[in-house]
Amino acid sequence: MNTTDYIDFFDELDDEDKLNSRFGIDKRRPYQRMTRKLINEERKYVREQDDSSANFKFTYKAARFEEWWLLESLGDFYEHKWISDVLRRVKGGKEASVYLCRSGPAIDAPFVAAKVYRPRSLRNLKNDGQYRTGRADLDESGNVIVDDGALHAMEKRTTYGEELRHQSWIAYEFQTLEILHSVGADVPKPYAMEKNAILMDYIGDFGNAAPTLNSVTLDPDEVQPLFERVIQNVDLLLSNQRIHGDLSAYNLLYWEGDIALIDFPQVVPPNANPAAWTIFLRDVTRICQYFASQGARRDARKLATDLWTSHGHRITKEIHPRDLDPEKREDRHLWEKQKVSK
Ligand SMILES: Nc1ncnc2c1ncn2[C@@H]1O[C@H](COP(=O)(O)OP(=O)(O)OP(=O)(O)O)[C@@H](O)[C@H]1O
Ligand SMILES: [Mg+2]
Repeated sequence: MNTTDYIDFFDELDDEDKLNSRFGIDKRRPYQRMTRKLINEERKYVREQDDSSANFKFTYKAARFEEWWLLESLGDFYEHKWISDVLRRVKGGKEASVYLCRSGPAIDAPFVAAKVYRPRSLRNLKNDGQYRTGRADLDESGNVIVDDGALHAMEKRTTYGEELRHQSWIAYEFQTLEILHSVGADVPKPYAMEKNAILMDYIGDFGNAAPTLNSVTLDPDEVQPLFERVIQNVDLLLSNQRIHGDLSAYNLLYWEGDIALIDFPQVVPPNANPAAWTIFLRDVTRICQYFASQGARRDARKLATDLWTSHGHRITKEIHPRDLDPEKREDRHLWEKQKVSK
C-alpha cells in the first residue's frame, strides 16, 4: 500500500467490497481468508468500542474506524489537557497519520501536531529489522526493555512481543525528538507520548501545514545556507549517537525559510549496526540529490565520509540494509540488551 492509497484507508475499512479489492482478497483461498479474518476482528473490536470514550469529541469528521482509533490514541492527551480538539488530518503516511490539533491549556501554542500510528496489525512495517539491529527496545516510558519474558516474546514474535516492538518503534521517535530538541536541532518540540501517538510542535499555520522540502523550489539565496543547516543537523545527530535512517527531502519540512527534520522511528545507532555506514551514506546522498536539484552540487560520498570519520567512525564494507536479518542472528539476545547511549 503506498502513501496515497493510505489516505483513504480508514474510510474503506467499513466497506466490504472495497476492502476485498484493496487486499486482492479471494475468499476461497485460505491464506486470504486469514487476512480477511484479521480485518474482521479489528472491525468487531471497533464496533464493541463504539460507545466508550464518550467525553472526547472533536471537530474533525473522521470515518468510523478512524474516529475510534483517534479516541483510543488521543484520549489521554485530551484528558491531560495537551489537546482540546482535533481539527483536521494533515497527512496520511505509510506508518502514521498526522493531525492538526487545537492545543489544550498545557501547551503554550495555538496548535499542535499529533502523529498517530496505525494499529500494529495494519501497519506497513518499514522492514524494521534492519533498523532494530544494534538498538535496544524501549518500553512505553522510553526505558530499555531488559525483562527476559518481554525479550523472549519479541524474539518469538508473539502478539505481546509484536505489541512491544510497535511501542518501541514509537518510543524511539519520541526519545530522539526529545534528545535532539534539547541540543538545539531543528526538530519539532515533542510534548508527550502515548501508546500509539506522539504530540509535537505543529509546523505551519491554520490553513497550511509546512510542505515537505521535496515539493519546494528554494530561492537561490537560501539554497546554500539551508544545505549547511541540514548538514549541521546530520552532524548533531551523529554527536548524539543517531543516524536518521530515512532522511530525504520528504522528511524535511520547510516553513518560512526554516527547516525541520521529522520522522525518526527508524533511527540507527552508528556504533552498533553493521549497516550503519551504508544507511548514513544513503541519508547524505539523498540530501545531496535534493540540493543538487536546487543548484548546490556536492560530492555526497566525500561529505558523508568526512562527517562519519570526524566522529571517529570507521568506513565499513557496504551492506545492503535489507540483507540484514536480525532474526537470524545468534547473538540477538545480546544486542537486545545493548543500551543506546543517550
Ligand atoms: N510536526 C509537524 N507539523 C506539520 N506537519 C507534519 C509534522 N510532522 C509530520 N507532518 C506531516 O505529516 C507527514 C507524515 O509524517 P511522518 O513523515 O512523520 O510520518 P510517516 O508515516 O512516516 O510518513 P511517510 O511514510 O510518508 O514518511 C509529513 O510528511 C508531513 O507532511
Ligand atoms: Mg515521512
